[in-house]
Amino acid sequence: MQHFEIVGGNRLKGVVPISGAKNASLPIMAASILVDGETILHNVPDLADVRHLQVLLGRLGVKSQRDDSGAMHLRVEDEMNTHAEYELVSKMRASVCVMGPLLAKRKRAQVSMPGGCAIGDRPIDMHIQGLCALGAEFEFVNGDVLLRNKKLTGADIFLGGPFGSSVTATANVLMAATLADGRTIIESAACEPEIVDLANYLNACGARIAGQGTPQLTIEGVSSLTGTEHRIIPDRIEVGTFMIAAALTNGELELQGAQFEHIRAIVDRLRQVGVIVERAEKGLIVSSSRRLEPVQITTQPYPGFPTDLQAQAMALLCLADGNSMITEKVFPDRFLHVGELNRMGAHLRKAGPTVMIEGVKRLVGAPVMASDLRASAALVLAALIAKGTTQVQRVYHIDRGYETIERKLAAVGANIRRVQD
Ligand code: EPZ
Repeated sequence: MQHFEIVGGNRLKGVVPISGAKNASLPIMAASILVDGETILHNVPDLADVRHLQVLLGRLGVKSQRDDSGAMHLRVEDEMNTHAEYELVSKMRASVCVMGPLLAKRKRAQVSMPGGCAIGDRPIDMHIQGLCALGAEFEFVNGDVLLRNKKLTGADIFLGGPFGSSVTATANVLMAATLADGRTIIESAACEPEIVDLANYLNACGARIAGQGTPQLTIEGVSSLTGTEHRIIPDRIEVGTFMIAAALTNGELELQGAQFEHIRAIVDRLRQVGVIVERAEKGLIVSSSRRLEPVQITTQPYPGFPTDLQAQAMALLCLADGNSMITEKVFPDRFLHVGELNRMGAHLRKAGPTVMIEGVKRLVGAPVMASDLRASAALVLAALIAKGTTQVQRVYHIDRGYETIERKLAAVGANIRRVQD
């Protein structure tokens, strides 16, 4: 296993190239199951989760490989297997994105229930409800969801849940509806930019989807889809993470490839804190005034403030000049980073889905343990500003969603290195 060794205190300055979005790449790669011929995807980040999905797709007869330019080529070579097994799905929840494509194209999908998650309760009932509304028969077999249907039929589907829309449930139902008979309308659909990117890829393959980016999606079913070439959007959560790195270290970073339209809620909150965000030719320039203002943040489905940036924002507000509050409305239990930040001298008190953050003058370096992807990013950010040295253990969590983060940080002045345990 590896850990990061970080000595805090350096001001970050320079250019950070933003990678492609993990949460757009994964459903789009899964969608290649629906497609005849070859798909070529550009800007797919080199992440553990991406490599993991390639293994699963390989088991499902989808060959995927990168060419010298890094572009990923995907092609279905065998449609026999329709079983996404526990051994693979349990390692990465986003594997459930193969459910809709398998059902629509191969008439059968047997996908392991994902199981427990560090960020809280994550059922897949909305995925099943949505696919059954298209006519699938559902059965529960040895911990697997089994869905079958000879020919899916378009339907009007309300896909709202206890915490609002669901990103991957929308993706699964949208993908399945592209090959269903007739029209499907999805109400309370997720509006995330990653869903828009998926719909744009599918439309380029011959699908007929409208309304992407709004809560109402309309899909006219077609008989087949043909491979195409597509460029994955930039990763807005990586953008937000580096914006906070610039703010915390009183630095100045140019985030190359960042798309302003995707991060309005993030920009709004960070500007309230006192972070300066300017559009630049190739992206954004982020810097901060010395004084960080306390604010209130509530996470919500897009276009609200993303839950995937909640932990990182908490690390920032630890250093604000006053008391802040963060309420987590998407994953109410997503707070495993709180205890670790308190180990670094933060003053955080959790009450239900809300954390009160009393701003402190400084954080101190300490050995801390990453518990999940975004919590680990928050600990790395806190370490950049902490007095002394911090060891962030279990960095395999961060490798799931950030492409060589330590190299990108070191390139703009951070004192960080990856150490083999
Ligand atoms: C996606 O997960 C992202 N993952 C998550 O990012 C992100 O945190 C989440 O959306 C919310 O933005 C990918 O895109 C691969 P949801 P997803 O279904 O689709 C409840 C990261 O760090 N719900 O939108 O699994 C659910 O429990 C990851 O990159 C049901 O109740 O999230 C949650 O409270 C972590 N029943 C809420 O809806 C369902 O069937 C939103 O979850 C589905 C969801």
